[in-house]
Amino acid sequence: MQNTTAGPRRTPHRTLGIETSCDETGVALYESGRGLLAHALHSQVEVHAAHGGVVPELASRDHVRRLLPLIRRVLAQAGTAPEDVDGVAYTAGPGLIGALLTGATLARSLAWAWGVPAIGVHHLEAHLLAPLLEPDPPEFPFLALLVSGGHTQLVRVDGLGCYRTLGQTLDDAVGEAFDKTAKLLGLPYPGGPALARLAEDGDTERFHFPRPMTDRPGLDFSFSGLKTHVLQMLANLPRDPRTLADVARAFQDAAVDTLVIKCRRALREIGIPRLVVAGGVGANRALRSALDALARREGAQVYYPRPEFCTDNGAMIALAGALRLAAGESAPLAVETRARWPLDSLGPP
Ligand code: KG4
Ligand code: ZN
Repeated sequence: MQNTTAGPRRTPHRTLGIETSCDETGVALYESGRGLLAHALHSQVEVHAAHGGVVPELASRDHVRRLLPLIRRVLAQAGTAPEDVDGVAYTAGPGLIGALLTGATLARSLAWAWGVPAIGVHHLEAHLLAPLLEPDPPEFPFLALLVSGGHTQLVRVDGLGCYRTLGQTLDDAVGEAFDKTAKLLGLPYPGGPALARLAEDGDTERFHFPRPMTDRPGLDFSFSGLKTHVLQMLANLPRDPRTLADVARAFQDAAVDTLVIKCRRALREIGIPRLVVAGGVGANRALRSALDALARREGAQVYYPRPEFCTDNGAMIALAGALRLAAGESAPLAVETRARWPLDSLGPP
C-alpha cells in the first residue's frame, strides 16, 4: 500500500487496533517493545442469539454504537491521550462488508484527525500472529493451523506477510461444522462452545464418526459430511440428554482427531517443529490437549494465544498493524475493505 497519509510521520510506537469483521467489536492499544497496554471487547451474542446466527445489518449497527465508547475505555485504561496514539490499525477483510466498513471508516477518520498513519489488516494474518502477544512467542518459520468460523487452513509462515497455504477446507470450516452440529443438537447460538461443553459429559466409546479425508494424501479438509452424519444418526435416536452428549462427544472427537492427523502430516512434511494454533476453535480444550500430546510425540512445540485472543479481538489487529506500520507500510486515504481476500496474496511490508 502507498504512503499517502496526511500529517507529520512519526515512528509508530502506540498502535490502536480496531476489529469489526463479524460479531465482536474489539479495540486494543499495543506499544512496540512493551506489548499490550489495554484491550476491550464487546460481544454481540445477545443481538444475534434470537436469530440463531449473525445478522449482518444488525452487526454493523451495533459496531457503530459500541466503537467510540470502547476506544475511550481502552485509552483511559492505558492512560493514553489521543495525541499519544501513533497509528491506527483496522481489519480490512475478509469479513462482512458492512461490519468491516464501520471499523475501517472510523479508524481511517481518527488517523486523519490525529495526523498519524492508518493500516488495513488482514484478519487471518492477525489471527496467526496472535501468539506473538504471549510470553515465549514462536520464532519464524512456523506451521499455523487456522481454525475459525469461516476458515480452516494449514499455513506455512516464513515471516510477516510470507504465507503459503498448504491445505484448506473444501466445504465447511471446522467452526461452522461445530455451529451447525450444535444447532442440530438443539443447542443455543453460538453453538461451538456450547457443543464443546456438552461433549465433556459424553461417552467417547458409544458412537464413532468418520475422520474425513484422512485416508488420502494431502492436507485439505472437508467437514460438511460430519454434520450430515449427525443429521442422519439423530433421525434414528432418542433425543435424551445422554444421547445428545454422546453424539456431541463423537462429533468433537472426529473433528479434533481429523485436525490432529493433518497437523502431524504437515509437521512431518515441512520439518519445522513449531505449530501455532489460531482462530476461534483454537479455544477448544479437547483440541488443545490433543495437539499438546501430538507435539510431545513429534518433538515439536505448540503455541496458542490465550483463549480470549483465539476468538476475534482488537489486540491481534493492533499487533499485526503495529508490525506493518513499524516496517513503514500504511493505508491510502481511500478506505478499502474486502469481503474475500486470500491470505497467500499478502506480501511482506
Ligand atoms: O475466530 P472466530 O472468533 O471468528 C471467525 O473469524 O470466524 O471463530 C469463531 C468460531 C465459531 O464457529 C465458534 O463456534 C468457534 O469459533 N468456537 C469454538 C469454541 N470457541 C469458539 N468451537 C469449538 N470449541 C470452542 N470452545
Ligand atoms: Zn476470526
